[in-house]
Amino acid sequence: MLYSEKVMDHFEHPRNVGEIENADGVGEVGNPTCGDIMRIYLKIDNDIITDVKFKTFGCGSAIASSSMATELIKGKSIKEALELSNKAVVEALDGLPSRKIHCSVLAEEAIKAALVDYYEKNGLELPPEIKDFYKKIININNKILRRILTFLSHSRFQKCYTFL
Ligand code: FES
Repeated sequence: MLYSEKVMDHFEHPRNVGEIENADGVGEVGNPTCGDIMRIYLKIDNDIITDVKFKTFGCGSAIASSSMATELIKGKSIKEALELSNKAVVEALDGLPSRKIHCSVLAEEAIKAALVDYYEKNGLELPPEIKDFYKKIININNKILRRILTFLSHSRFQKCYTFL
């Protein structure tokens, strides 16, 4: 089977879908090649991620990756969330086809982007491990996302079932 049972489960029954009002951190990333977009909302209390939600416009693997990634960081510390890699998301999903690995990268990046937003909102210095990420990813995504989000602004963020 191309997709594991866990991928199918998280795609068909995604956990933590939605938005958090007055989120402490919001991260938005996109892949310029496939056009998929992921947005992560974090509620953080005393360095602990007490709630996390996502909205993903993209393929089933992106939805499954978002769902699993949010499950993996819920209740964890900021430090643990910063350490979450796309590899850990793929492993937790019992694998993804090689051409879908970039979907899990999007989940890792969206979480890091939300944490960058949290640090900035609170006037905190970015930890060294996400400084490079910030320079590389955020700036690229800002340009790409402006165009895509303008296009999507009428349809709002929806799950998009373009899985197979
Ligand atoms: Fe690009 Fe899934 S995120 S195809």
